Amino acid sequence: MHRVHLLVGIFSAFLAYAVAVSQNTLPTLTLPVETVFQFGEIGTWIENLVIRKNGHILFTTVSPNASLYQLACPCTAKTEATLVHHFANITALTGIDAVTDDTFVVLGGNTSAPGTPILGTWSAWEVTFGVDAAALFIQKIVDLPGDVMPNGIALVPKHPNILLITDSKGGSILRLDRAARTCEPVIQLPVMEPAPHSVPAIGINGLKIRDGFAYWTNSFASTIYRTCIDDDGLPCGGDDDPQNATELVAVVRQTWLDDVTFGGDGTMWLATNPNNTVVAISAEGKQVVVAGSGADLGLAGATALAFGRTAIDADVLYVTTSGGLALPINGTVVEPGKVVAVNTGNWKEI
Ligand SMILES: *[C@@H]1O[C@H](CO)[C@@H](O)[C@H](O)[C@H]1NC(C)=O
Ligand SMILES: *[C@@H]1O[C@H](CO)[C@@H](O)[C@H](O)[C@H]1NC(C)=O
Ligand SMILES: *[C@@H]1O[C@H](CO)[C@@H](O)[C@H](O)[C@H]1NC(C)=O
Ligand SMILES: *[C@@H]1O[C@H](CO)[C@@H](O)[C@H](O)[C@H]1NC(C)=O
Ligand SMILES: *[C@@H]1O[C@H](CO)[C@@H](O)[C@H](O)[C@H]1NC(C)=O
Ligand SMILES: *[C@@H]1O[C@H](CO)[C@@H](O)[C@H](O)[C@H]1NC(C)=O
Repeated sequence: MHRVHLLVGIFSAFLAYAVAVSQNTLPTLTLPVETVFQFGEIGTWIENLVIRKNGHILFTTVSPNASLYQLACPCTAKTEATLVHHFANITALTGIDAVTDDTFVVLGGNTSAPGTPILGTWSAWEVTFGVDAAALFIQKIVDLPGDVMPNGIALVPKHPNILLITDSKGGSILRLDRAARTCEPVIQLPVMEPAPHSVPAIGINGLKIRDGFAYWTNSFASTIYRTCIDDDGLPCGGDDDPQNATELVAVVRQTWLDDVTFGGDGTMWLATNPNNTVVAISAEGKQVVVAGSGADLGLAGATALAFGRTAIDADVLYVTTSGGLALPINGTVVEPGKVVAVNTGNWKEI
């Protein structure tokens, strides 16, 4: 059966909400969600995504193999993914970001299990779409340092050759220079390290750059910090004391934080992976669980999120999932990875 409907129509028709507040949980709100793509097999973990200028979604898989897919969006119906490229020599892709409208940098390497990288196998790759839709150019930029677990990646806006990369294992931000083909740590702080007893040992994770700050999550610590960076992607004030350039933005209690993104109004949106939700933090600092719940499959293993870029889907937050592979729902239930569209249009009014 093929269901065809306009997301926008569905969203306004089914808009519903519930607010619940208790001592240990955040207020919750149910924004309308719609699955726009889902794999057929369990064991498919979608790790990250980026939205192309033309509205198409590129997403990466960390399991069962290292593949880059495209979804023709804005999605007005459930759609099928097209394989862009399978990286045959490695087993996992993590972060991806755009450096121009048609060129992307993606991180890839080997893992023994999702979340457990094999050190020394990771590289940054460049993927360029040609004018002819079929033409694709792929090249390795550089091998990454042998002791890092590369996870999030973000272009430094004023410098198309510089990207920052989070190292979830060592607790640092690396600086990739695409032109010089170098990659080295530039910010290393204790608050970037995995929190004690984290299994697997994952610290700094999601990363986005906005208005001169690199915003990043520390997964098990449930924290979001921001570090002031200059136009070259280096910490403000030099590297004498990068702690000085860094401040705590928020703590989302008892919540595992994966990737982060921003809406045009400054709202911060967070994917909480094993907590199976998306959390919004308004510019004023109010925290709300806006979609998903610990006990249902709606956002089972929400890994990353990004807003649509066309007039039709500018309010649509596309969320990728792992199907709950890191922590099955109710201890046992998993499903194939998917891409979910969350309509955020009315979230402020609720
Ligand atoms: C990669 O995984 C996907 C999803 O399970 C599968 O459809 C595809 O055939 C796999 N590719 C290879 C080359 O094994
Ligand atoms: C994959 O590995 C093979 C054998 O080691 C090598 O010849 C080939 O260049 C590699 N491909 C890429 C894209 O690195
Ligand atoms: C990744 O693992 C495969 C075997 O699964 C191996 O052939 C390949 O050489 C490894 N890649 C790197 C970069 O070590
Ligand atoms: C760090 O901040 C303190 C207090 O604001 C200031 O005195 C000090 O000069 C700063 N250090 C650096 C290296 O910027
Ligand atoms: C997030 O998941 C963990 C692990 O299941 C759980 O202990 C914690 O209470 C959850 N947080 C929230 C806010 O539900
Ligand atoms: C998890 O358990 C709760 C409580 O029994 C139930 O309501 C919910 O449907 C279960 N979730 C799944 C995905 O089975």
